[in-house]
Amino acid sequence: MLKAIWMSDPHFAHEGDIMGHDPRVRLQAAIDHINQHHHDARFCVISGDMVNRGSEADYEALSKLLNQLVIPVLPMVGNHDDRLIFRSKIPVPDLCMENFIQFSVSTPEGWVLCLDTQKHGSDAGEFCAQRRAWLRRALTDAGSTPVYIFLHHPPMPLGLPMQDSENMENGEAFLDMLSEFECVKYLFIGHVHRAITGTVKGIPFSTMRSILYQAPAPRPDWNWETFKPAEEASSLGVLTIVNEAVNLQFEQICKFEHGVRPAI
Ligand SMILES: [Fe+2]
Repeated sequence: MLKAIWMSDPHFAHEGDIMGHDPRVRLQAAIDHINQHHHDARFCVISGDMVNRGSEADYEALSKLLNQLVIPVLPMVGNHDDRLIFRSKIPVPDLCMENFIQFSVSTPEGWVLCLDTQKHGSDAGEFCAQRRAWLRRALTDAGSTPVYIFLHHPPMPLGLPMQDSENMENGEAFLDMLSEFECVKYLFIGHVHRAITGTVKGIPFSTMRSILYQAPAPRPDWNWETFKPAEEASSLGVLTIVNEAVNLQFEQICKFEHGVRPAI
C-alpha cells in the first residue's frame, strides 16, 4: 500500500500577496493539515510552481517552512521556478538528474516519477530529448512494475480559457511515448490550479487545485486581463494506491477566506 500527499502550485513568496492571497498563510495551513491528519503518508509531492518569482529569499523561506513537515517532500519544478536557485536551496532525492529536477522514487506499489517540464523563460512547458531519454530508460527498466507519473505542465488541451497555450509543447509526442508502455498507470498534473480528471490516450489523469489560488471554471469565459481567482477553497490530494487501484481524495485545507484580503 502507498499513501502519499499531493499538493500543487503553492506559488510561495517570502513577503507580499499573490492575487490577493497570502502564500505563507496558505502553505502553513497545508502543512498543519498534513502534520495533523496525514503524518502516516510516505511523502508529499509538490507538483511545481514552488515559488511565484524565484528569488533566493523566497526559496530560503520556503525551505524553512517545508522543514516543519513531518513527512519527506518530493519537490518539483514549474514555470514560475528558477531551477538553479531551487536546486541550491531545496533538497532533492538522490536519483535526480544532474541538469533537471527530474527523479524517480521507489515505493511498495511501483515507481513514482517526478518529471521536469520547465522551458526556460516560458510559461509553456517542454520535454526535451535529454529528459525524454531519461524517461524512456526509466519506463523500460520498470518492465511490468507500475509507474505513476507527476508533471507540472499538461501534455494535452484541457479546455480551460487562456491556459491551453501554456501546456507542454510537443505533448502529443510525449503521450505517444507513454502509450508504448503498459507500466504507465496514471498522470498527476499541476499548473492549471483546478481539479480535472479524465483519460488521455487511455491513460487516467488528474489535475490538482493550487494551495494558493484557484482558476475559475471555463464558463463564464475569462481571459488574463479580467482574471480573478475563483472563490473556491484550496485543496490537496490524499492518494492511496493498493495493487494498482488508485484512490485520490481532494481535501480542503482551510476556508476560502483564510489568508485572502477583503478586497477580493
Ligand atoms: Fe504553472
